[in-house]
Amino acid sequence: MNNRIYIFDTTLRDGEQSPGASMNLEEKMKMAHQLERLHVDVIEAGFPIASDGDFESVREIAREIRGCTIAGLARATRGDIDRAWEALQYAARPRIHTFIATSDIHLEYKLKRSREQVLEQTAEAVAYAKSLCPEVEFSAEDAGRSDIDYLCQVVEAAIRAGADVINIPDTVGYCLPSEFGAKIAAIRQNVPNIDQAILSVHCHNDLGLAVANSLAAIQNGARQVECTVNGIGERAGNASLEEIVMALYVRGDLMQFNCGVKTEEIFRSSKLLSNLTGLVVQANKAIVGKNAFAHEAGIHQDGVLKKSITYEIMTPQAVGLPTNNLVMGKHSGRHALDKRYKELGYELSKSELDKAYLLFTKLADRKKQIFDEDLLVIVHDGIRVIPETYHLKYIQTVGGNQTIATATVKLSREDSIFIDSATGDGPVDATYKAIDRIAGMSGKLLDYSLNSVTRGKDAVGEVYVHVEFDAKTFTGQAASSDIIDASARAYLHALNKALHERQHHCSSRKSDEEMI
Ligand code: KIV
Ligand code: ZN
Repeated sequence: MNNRIYIFDTTLRDGEQSPGASMNLEEKMKMAHQLERLHVDVIEAGFPIASDGDFESVREIAREIRGCTIAGLARATRGDIDRAWEALQYAARPRIHTFIATSDIHLEYKLKRSREQVLEQTAEAVAYAKSLCPEVEFSAEDAGRSDIDYLCQVVEAAIRAGADVINIPDTVGYCLPSEFGAKIAAIRQNVPNIDQAILSVHCHNDLGLAVANSLAAIQNGARQVECTVNGIGERAGNASLEEIVMALYVRGDLMQFNCGVKTEEIFRSSKLLSNLTGLVVQANKAIVGKNAFAHEAGIHQDGVLKKSITYEIMTPQAVGLPTNNLVMGKHSGRHALDKRYKELGYELSKSELDKAYLLFTKLADRKKQIFDEDLLVIVHDGIRVIPETYHLKYIQTVGGNQTIATATVKLSREDSIFIDSATGDGPVDATYKAIDRIAGMSGKLLDYSLNSVTRGKDAVGEVYVHVEFDAKTFTGQAASSDIIDASARAYLHALNKALHERQHHCSSRKSDEEMI
């Protein structure tokens, strides 16, 4: 049996579906380019019928990314499949990914259809997709809880109708590794035409078992794994790409498989995704967490200094972790700047790099050594892709445990200056209320996180916010050594995105009812 494992990345579809992970077209393009550099085999770029925005991003990714197969999701209906093909037709290697649920729970309560009807619909949808697109993947949604005999019938029918890839999702992250591995083995044993398709798995992480289940599936014959960078995805997320890839890499002694992923691009992919979405991984996250390669205990540090293998099962270089924190001075060129930004997870366009370089040289005239955090401030504040409708001129807050927090904010918009004050539940809340009053907006803060970029009392803090404006979520980020300043500018970043969206097209996702 072939030992090649195909990596199907669904960061831009299942991942982007998760709360707080929404990205605009420009952000999705940046991520897609990075996934291409990571050498994933397939990029699932979106769900074209879900919204005009999804359609547009699948179409643009299909047009621009030539090194990977581009997949688009479609329910098992002609309307969905037509829309997916409309977006995918430009791809060098397009793939329609159509799905229908196969568990009795979904059939009875969601689809209200019989097993026979779903079997028929599967064959019809796959055959129709195959009449349009050279490559078709079929997913049996909730396969993890589906009756195995029925699942085998559906898989057989899908392959007969022309499916090239059969995906077995553990949609609700319910299975245990031994159980899921056995399911894959049973499908291989009992579906007579299984050799005509690649068997794939798609595991969710509700019990924290998505990676273990994916590996168990590989050991039982799956040859494609569906996963996301940083494990983002619906609810508890999907199987994490970096964990699967590095498990295969590190434990090649027990799992003799190969995948095409360029592991040195892993850290950068993780950083870029965090920067684009504001979803920062926890410090102890395997492979890409801040502490994944940090050795705190004296005994460990001593061991690593003597021989890294004592406490490191892989090198930081293998996943592309940048090693030096000291960056550059005034003699560094734009190429070095671009390289460092890439290491930090920022993919700058030519004009962004031009602006960043200009700001960098100005800063280098004043400051001898420039650190990563200085570069973050430049990229966050100096070269915003979204036009800065409102710009923070000044902020003053009063707080404490015995006073009502108050903020006074001064913003500029073109040539006008606006000042307003508000009280709130703490200085950050008061600041956001004052900004809302000036902008005439009403933002709902869904998430706020503060991470220190450096150590020490004067550490630079990066603030990420998720704010809801007009029933849509926008992310904002900013870095500063002053928390209130970073908080205000992160909020303004999100607010400016919302204003930009208002001024341009407004395309909202279809409602849940429409998507059933
Ligand atoms: O989790 C799931 O079942 C899915 C399918 C659409 C593949 O995301
Ligand atoms: Zn999923």
